[in-house]
Amino acid sequence: MFVWSKLTASRSADTWEERFNGNPDGTLVISSFPGRKMIRLEFYCESQAPAKKVQKQYGGEVRHLKPQNWAAHSSQTPPPVKVRDKFVICAAKTDVEVKQARAKFPNREIIAVPADMAFGTGHHATTATVLRLLVDAAQERQAAGKKWSMADLGCGSGILAIAADKLGASRVWGCDYDPAAVKISQENAARNNTPKVRFTKVDVLKWEPKQTWDIVAANIFFDILESAFPQMVRSVAPGGVLMLSGILKSQAKDCLAAGKRAGFVVQKVVTKGKWVTALGTVKNR
Ligand SMILES: C[S@@+](CC[C@H](N)C(=O)[O-])C[C@H]1O[C@@H](n2cnc3c(N)ncnc32)[C@H](O)[C@@H]1O
Repeated sequence: MFVWSKLTASRSADTWEERFNGNPDGTLVISSFPGRKMIRLEFYCESQAPAKKVQKQYGGEVRHLKPQNWAAHSSQTPPPVKVRDKFVICAAKTDVEVKQARAKFPNREIIAVPADMAFGTGHHATTATVLRLLVDAAQERQAAGKKWSMADLGCGSGILAIAADKLGASRVWGCDYDPAAVKISQENAARNNTPKVRFTKVDVLKWEPKQTWDIVAANIFFDILESAFPQMVRSVAPGGVLMLSGILKSQAKDCLAAGKRAGFVVQKVVTKGKWVTALGTVKNR
């Protein structure tokens, strides 16, 4: 494992997220420090070449990490993220840390997602927005006394699927094409006491959905969403909704047009920073 790192101004965090969004060579971790205007960027790669490539482009330094120690070298613990009045997402790793988080936030459900290799600690605008939409959709279904199921396409850390289980979904499935993300999601499901959630290695682009779900969330990247609309639309149960994120503002028009051609009917668009999240139903369902 190799890590490229660099300290930079915190106001540029969005730009860095954007630069590394979809980079298949590794995972970007951004750490902020209370009271400081700097952030630390760390890009974790399996091999040295991609880390060196990033260094050549942006400066900074490259270190070799022993595989078993890479997490220990990683950034400081990110601050907890609150979602509506329901969740606190924190980086607790051990049972003791999870218990401590529960004691600190007694009125909220804790979702513990250590800053591991997979994307999805709740800090990114896209994850946070989908989590909020998920809380709202679950409340609506609960108020109507409806049972509901959820699929998390591009599960990363498994955070959305775990949240859905905690919100009362009766059936939850997540997938990612990255086997490391599937493994980390399974570990996070165990850590968060949501053992019924299933995670599978699936490439959404080659996916043939065999079931449908009431809520299908896909926080992937624009190009994947654009190509996967037909199968995503087919995976939504009658009366269900599709939540899409990972779309940059500049891509939103094209992305939603592709969705419309496939039968996606936009109901709500949320913009946070440079990121757009869309919620909608599916035609003829
Ligand atoms: C932006 S992260 C989202 C993670 C998490 N769902 C969240 O909301 O924080 C996108 C995830 O989609 C996965 N992904 C990208 N392309 C994919 C594909 N074609 N099929 C399945 N997963 C994919 C990536 O590996 C990554 O874990």
